[in-house]
Amino acid sequence: MLYDNLSVNDRGHLEVAGLDTVDLAAEYGTPLYLLDEDRVRAHCRTYVEAMRKYFPEGSVPLYAGKALCFKGIYPVVDSEGLSADVVSPGEIYTALAAGFPAGKLYFHGTNKTDEDIAYGLRSRVGFFIVDNPNELRALNAEAGRQGVHQKILLRVTVGLDPHTLEAINTGRVDSQFGVPIETGQAARFVEEAMAQENLELFGFHSHIGSQIFESDSFCDQADILIRFAKEMKEKLDYTARIFNIGGGFGVRYVESDPEVDIAGNIREISDHLRKGCAQAGIPMPVILMEPGRSIVADAGVTLYTTGGIKTVEGYRDYVTVDGGMTDNPRYALYKSAYTVLNASHADQAADFTCTIAGRCCESGDRIAEEIQIAKPRRGDIIAVLTTGAYNYAMSMNYNRVPRPALVMLHEGTARLAVRRQTFEDLVACEL
Ligand code: LLP
Repeated sequence: MLYDNLSVNDRGHLEVAGLDTVDLAAEYGTPLYLLDEDRVRAHCRTYVEAMRKYFPEGSVPLYAGKALCFKGIYPVVDSEGLSADVVSPGEIYTALAAGFPAGKLYFHGTNKTDEDIAYGLRSRVGFFIVDNPNELRALNAEAGRQGVHQKILLRVTVGLDPHTLEAINTGRVDSQFGVPIETGQAARFVEEAMAQENLELFGFHSHIGSQIFESDSFCDQADILIRFAKEMKEKLDYTARIFNIGGGFGVRYVESDPEVDIAGNIREISDHLRKGCAQAGIPMPVILMEPGRSIVADAGVTLYTTGGIKTVEGYRDYVTVDGGMTDNPRYALYKSAYTVLNASHADQAADFTCTIAGRCCESGDRIAEEIQIAKPRRGDIIAVLTTGAYNYAMSMNYNRVPRPALVMLHEGTARLAVRRQTFEDLVACEL
């Protein structure tokens, strides 16, 4: 099994966190998102403990809610000691509605509108991560109007390509995120930020990409940030107190993906940063990281019910399920690989080659192609693993398919955390 929270019981059913997936599907219906809260907590602890151990005091992971944002996740990450990265007023609202402390929110976003800026300030978020000089000026003006002294970080781009998917690679020079160091614009951005009377600049943010398996790219990023911080010290007498090095550690979607040693990587990044800062003669800053995927992805499993099974003679076998791109658009968007199991017959040989198709009127609506599972019959429960990140968060109502329910599994019990959308929900905004 891909993870140690998965097992097969004596009925031949797949279990997640010790709970029978076929029973869960019968109780809550399908498609159904499962989230193993204990596994989420374990990942949170790995980050918190390693960052406390290896980085300077005050270093903390920020949970990147873009990976999975709903009210139920915030008390979990809060109680584990994480702060959070939010990218929109909607994410701020969700976190606050769940009782998450506003001061622990870091407000990102490449285009914060004037309304977004006003909302973030009114909400008293801890930090704004300012993307560009226009935003800087608008933020300073609004902070003045609201009488707020706002802590900020500046988003800079380090010009690295960690060879992940094009769509999730955000650290290159030619990127819509942040301001590039290489062109000299980031230095001017710092100078301008220091001059804003209502803002206090704590340091820099950069994010190089997602689904990264090794520390090398983070070490390269650290080198560029250190060089930049040294330059700012020399030119502007500015000392950065915080480096936020972004998110991005990878997870295992399929057996062939490597396992990431998060704590080991954090130790390597820390060693590299400490040496680099000492050589550059600058103090080692507090380090923030923004893990999303590596906190929630492999704690999530999606359950579907098998519908039609058809053979297109001379081509292939299709297994259709009662969800698809509406609850998981990642195959349609990125051709992302997934591990799929017949949860009703998880004890049988996975020897049936098929393509798993969704229910939408769209030929790209697929979850996986040419994979092997135990041959399903209509009504069998299909499980797709590693769906905790960027699935519910990216789900949609195309073809008027209601969004699935989400059930959290904690210490051997299941709890409905997001109810299934109803048809009334689908028309709720329509006048
Ligand atoms: N911080 C920033 C500034 C980011 O842009 C991201 C992800 C993260 C943190 C979290 O990265 P993570 O630890 O989750 O890799 N929809 C794509 C992923 C887009 C990621 C965008 N930024 C997918 O489904 O793979």
